[in-house]
Amino acid sequence: MAISRLLIENFRNFTAVDLEFDHGFNFLIGNNGSGKTNLLESLFYLGHGRSFKSNVTTRIIRYEQPHFTLHGKIQEQQHQWSVGLQKLRKDGTTLVKINGEDGNKISDLAHLLPMQIITPEGLTLLNGGPSYRRAFLDWGLFHHHSSFHSAWSALNRLLKQRNSALQQSYDYAPLRIWDIELAKLAHQVTQWRAEYAQALTPAIEQTCRLFLPELEIQLSFHQGWEKGSDYADLLRENFQRDKQIGYTVSGPQKADFRFKSNGLPVEDVLSRGQLKLLMCALRLAQGEHLMQQKNRHCIFLIDDFASELDQIKRALLAERLQQSRSQVFITAITQDQLAQMQVEKHCSFRLQEGNITLLAE
Ligand SMILES: Nc1ncnc2c1ncn2[C@@H]1O[C@H](COP(=O)(O)OP(=O)(O)OP(=O)(O)O)[C@@H](O)[C@H]1O
Ligand SMILES: [Mg+2]
Repeated sequence: MAISRLLIENFRNFTAVDLEFDHGFNFLIGNNGSGKTNLLESLFYLGHGRSFKSNVTTRIIRYEQPHFTLHGKIQEQQHQWSVGLQKLRKDGTTLVKINGEDGNKISDLAHLLPMQIITPEGLTLLNGGPSYRRAFLDWGLFHHHSSFHSAWSALNRLLKQRNSALQQSYDYAPLRIWDIELAKLAHQVTQWRAEYAQALTPAIEQTCRLFLPELEIQLSFHQGWEKGSDYADLLRENFQRDKQIGYTVSGPQKADFRFKSNGLPVEDVLSRGQLKLLMCALRLAQGEHLMQQKNRHCIFLIDDFASELDQIKRALLAERLQQSRSQVFITAITQDQLAQMQVEKHCSFRLQEGNITLLAE
C-alpha cells in the first residue's frame, strides 16, 4: 500500500500542489511554519476523513477559501485506486470519491489506507487517558475484522441510548431488553480486543527489546469490568449506581491496554525519548502484525523524526522502518537530522511557505 501521487488544493498553507512520492521513504524538509506537519495532516486526512490536529474543519481549509480538495493515487501490488475527498466550509459536508464513484463512506477510505502516525503529541498513547489505548487496539480490529466497525458503532450507539434512558427510568425493566443486546456486543468487542492484544504482544516485545534493551516492558489488557463476570448481569446489578452517577460506569468503554516497567506505569518512569521509542515500537509492531496477518502494508507518517532521539536510536528506528518495507513520510527541519538514516532509495522534498520542490531521488 502506497500513495504514489497526491494533489492538494486549499489545504492549510497549500494553494495547489501536485506531488509524486516514492513507495519507500519520503523526506519532508523545511523550516518552522513551512508546512511539513500540514502535508502529513493532508495525507492523514485522506486516510481518515479527519485531522490529527484540529477538530474544526474550517481551520484546515485555506484562509478565505470555500473548500479544500485532496486527490490521491493509491497502489497496492497490482491494484490501483483513485481517491478524492472534499470538505466544504459552508456546511462542513465531506464528499468522498473512490475510483470516480460518489457516495463512499469515510470508513471505505480508512479500509483502503491503513496508516500509523507518530508525532510528538502522540505520546498521549502512553501518558494520556485509556481512550488513546482503546483507539490503538480498535485501529487493529478495524483492519483485521470486517464486522468490527458495525459492532463497535452499534455498541457506542446503545451505550449512549442507555445513558440517556438511565435518567428517565425509575426501575430496571425498560432497560433490560436493550442491555441484553448491549451485553452481546460488549462481549464480542471485548473478546476481539483481548485476542488482538495477546496476538500483538510478541511483536511489541520483540521491537521493545531492539529499541529499549535496557527495559523490561510488561503489557496488560483490562476489559473494563470484572473479568469472568457476565456483562448483562453486571448492568442489572449496577442499575441503581449507574442511575445515581448518570452514566454506565463499567464496560468496554473503560477498557485499557497498560504498559509497565519495573511494575510501574511507563509514563511515570520512562524518559521522553524512551516513551517516544515505546510509542514507535507499538506502532511498528501493529503495522508488522497487519502485514503478517493480512498481507497489507500500512503507511507511516512521522512528524519531527529527530526530536528526543539520539543518533543510535534514530539509526535503529530507520533500520526497522526499512525492514517493514512500508511507505514512510518523515519530516525534519534540516537534512543533517536525517543523516543517520542509511536509506538507499528515497525522495526528498523542500518545503518553503507552502511551496514544495523535489530535492533528490
Ligand atoms: N487554514 C490555514 N490557511 C492558511 N495557512 C494556514 C492555515 N492553517 C495553518 N496555516 C499556516 O501553516 C503554517 C504551519 O504549518 P506547519 O504546522 O505544517 O509547519 P511545520 O513546517 O510543521 O513547522 P514546525 O517545524 O514548526 O513544526 C503556519 O504558517 C500557519 O499560518
Ligand atoms: Mg510541524
